[in-house]
Amino acid sequence: MTASSGKRVLLIIGGGIAAYKVLELIRRLRECGHFVRAVMTRAAQEFITKLSVESLTGNRVYDDLFSPTEESGMGHIELSRDADLIVVAPATADLLAKMAHGLAGDLATTLLLATDKKILAAPAMNLRMWLHPATRRNMARLQEDGVIFTGPEAGEMACGEYGPGRMSEPLTILAAIEARLAEDTRLPLAPEFAGQSRVLAGRRVIVTSGPTHEPIDPVRYIANRSSGRQGHAIASVAAAAGADTVLISGPVTLADPAQVQTRHVETACEMLEAVEAALPADIFIGVAAVADWRVAAVTHQKIKKEKGREFSLTLTENPDILACVGKRLENRPALVVGFAAESEDILARAAAKLTQKNCDMILANDVGESSQVFGGQKNEVLVLTRKDQESWPPLDKEMVARRLILRLSALLAERGE
Ligand code: C5P
Repeated sequence: MTASSGKRVLLIIGGGIAAYKVLELIRRLRECGHFVRAVMTRAAQEFITKLSVESLTGNRVYDDLFSPTEESGMGHIELSRDADLIVVAPATADLLAKMAHGLAGDLATTLLLATDKKILAAPAMNLRMWLHPATRRNMARLQEDGVIFTGPEAGEMACGEYGPGRMSEPLTILAAIEARLAEDTRLPLAPEFAGQSRVLAGRRVIVTSGPTHEPIDPVRYIANRSSGRQGHAIASVAAAAGADTVLISGPVTLADPAQVQTRHVETACEMLEAVEAALPADIFIGVAAVADWRVAAVTHQKIKKEKGREFSLTLTENPDILACVGKRLENRPALVVGFAAESEDILARAAAKLTQKNCDMILANDVGESSQVFGGQKNEVLVLTRKDQESWPPLDKEMVARRLILRLSALLAERGE
């Protein structure tokens, strides 16, 4: 068995007696270093408790399609997109029938329909149910759809009959999971829709990302905690959506994204120069945490400390790159987008920025002490345009990037640009 660790498995637990074996499967998956999130159907909760699944996965269990608290924690689409593989165990006759027909009446089946990752199912049911022509038809349909199966095995069943229908043992399912995780688990889009993912084909996008470093002397500088993750993710998604993408990055430890022309700069002044050189463009997205000030007189020699003497720096204001682009009379991109990191009065301040910097959209986020946005993986934003506002749930920075790119392509289309 080739073991891959640190993958994300979404386990959908169906309502069958074999559900108890899933507890063992969760333990094994975690021993292999995988992150496991579970969704339980109502029927599954008749066999094992949410509490035991929560304790073993170390994560909350999701079970309700219409729960606003669950949805605000993690939207149901995100739940299925966030995983590397979806595992259905036990895959009951009822779940298989729903999957085969594309029904989506509860959280489990909705996720199975909405997933962009492969599905591995471990069927378990009574022998007559397994052999019934309806189940045979459903299995054939699901195999055609690309669902992968492990089991069922023949043996004595909980109902006393003997034959095929027993769910595979946890170690067998684990081996099947590991084999799948070693491959690419993304589902390709149907060819007729593949074009829709290139929503920015023929467009040019400029993105700024990361912090800036403002020198004090040859060895010291002023900086901030921006990691560049959000800006880099946006540039990467824009390029994947077909845009000719230029990323102007301050000093970060991230790799340059694929298919993006990345220009490296240190200071705010260099960043502005690089942005102006990259214009014209259809979209400008200012994600960089540009330093507001720079040292007025940078010395060329290292400043010596003098014991007991206070030392002060005179700072001068840096150019506001976003405002410079937003207010351009010539070559202003059709869409100018900024971020606003605020620790209080988020909405009012973001709205003020939209007007002051002449932007078309501001994504505002809370960077108060508890938010962990700076340098973290997640982002929770409030999106403001001149017309409306909406708040997005906490999302991975990659998902924020995807939503943003789709939103911007729709805005361009709306305006007939
Ligand atoms: O005014 P504030 O710094 O909060 O504005 C944040 C937005 O403005 C971000 O989009 C950031 O990239 C941009 N900005 C800029 N140049 C500056 C300061 C901020 O482009 N000097």
